[in-house]
Amino acid sequence: MGGILVTGGAGFIGSHLCERLAGEGREVICLDVFDSFYSKKIKLRNIDSLKDAPNFHLYEGDIRDPAVLEDLFGHHRVEAVVHLAARAGVRPSLEMPRLYTDVNLTGTATLLEHARNFKVSRFLFGSSSSVYGNSDRIPLVETERVDEPVSPYAATKRAGELLTYTYHHLYGMNVSCLRFFTVYGPRQRPEMAIHKFTRLIDQGEAVPLFGDGSSARDYTYVDDIVAGIVAALERARGYQIYNLGRSEVVSLKELIAHIESALGKKANLVFQSEQPGDVRQTCADLTRSRQGLGYEPKIGIQEGIGRFVQWYRTQLTS
Ligand SMILES: NC(=O)c1ccc[n+]([C@@H]2O[C@H](COP(=O)([O-])OP(=O)(O)OC[C@H]3O[C@@H](n4cnc5c(N)ncnc54)[C@H](O)[C@@H]3O)[C@@H](O)[C@H]2O)c1
Repeated sequence: MGGILVTGGAGFIGSHLCERLAGEGREVICLDVFDSFYSKKIKLRNIDSLKDAPNFHLYEGDIRDPAVLEDLFGHHRVEAVVHLAARAGVRPSLEMPRLYTDVNLTGTATLLEHARNFKVSRFLFGSSSSVYGNSDRIPLVETERVDEPVSPYAATKRAGELLTYTYHHLYGMNVSCLRFFTVYGPRQRPEMAIHKFTRLIDQGEAVPLFGDGSSARDYTYVDDIVAGIVAALERARGYQIYNLGRSEVVSLKELIAHIESALGKKANLVFQSEQPGDVRQTCADLTRSRQGLGYEPKIGIQEGIGRFVQWYRTQLTS
């Protein structure tokens, strides 16, 4: 059995995945450049529990750097790649479209080329519900046409799905594109809504709410996402696209109410106009991922927010 390369493995989702795989005794190779999107200190803490594990190998480097990839693939027999390294986040992608395209697209192309040369048989691509754009056909189904992304970030994710298809077509690589629906839980990126709202409410600061609070998301607990990734690792055959969500719609107002109740504090809301690039609503249809992956999300929003707030409190004291 070869190793599993997790790109972006020190990030929010990646670190949970590395922990799960290493805990199951798999050889895990984590490649992360510790980009400046948020602090390196946070990412090092994410993988702190793994640093001494004999089956965990950390490479600090860039997916766009062929020398780094040569070195890594030369030292480890990589059986599967879970590609999570990216510039994430919708709003900053409007400010930095070239950077997003470079990391998310050139980076993916560089990685795919090495995966092909080193005969990797399975490649999982961390895609996003943002590829659905402003579709109002809720719940969102994988068969829907997705050629109207409304942010550069979304466009790079869709482009990544297409590029991985090409590698499947040309070289027979088994590829699963996993469309994550707003992921949350311990270690969530500091700029993401749940983390940001929790911090602001806890500190008694104003909470900016974009739109009238009716926009809605399908929030997915990180353990459920990791379970979906692990299932895809085991079952990836051919080329597939799967939604990984919770299939439960939560409005912004409801989300705030859950956080308030978990913190025992009231939010000071400041309503602001809607942000360009944001989508109005997401909700995953899970028919295909249930059938193909046996995927079944377990954690609902109330329990998930409770767990997140519990983790948030431990961070204040550590
Ligand atoms: N969190 C979500 O709600 C969500 C939703 C949909 C899709 N995704 C996708 O899932 C993946 C992981 O997201 P996350 O929330 O854990 O983000 P994250 O920012 O916490 O993790 C991404 C990691 O990739 C690393 N990285 C960035 N550029 C790199 C490069 N050029 N080379 C090597 N490493 C690099 C970063 O340092 C970071 O540790 C991303 O591809 C993201 O687009 C996330």
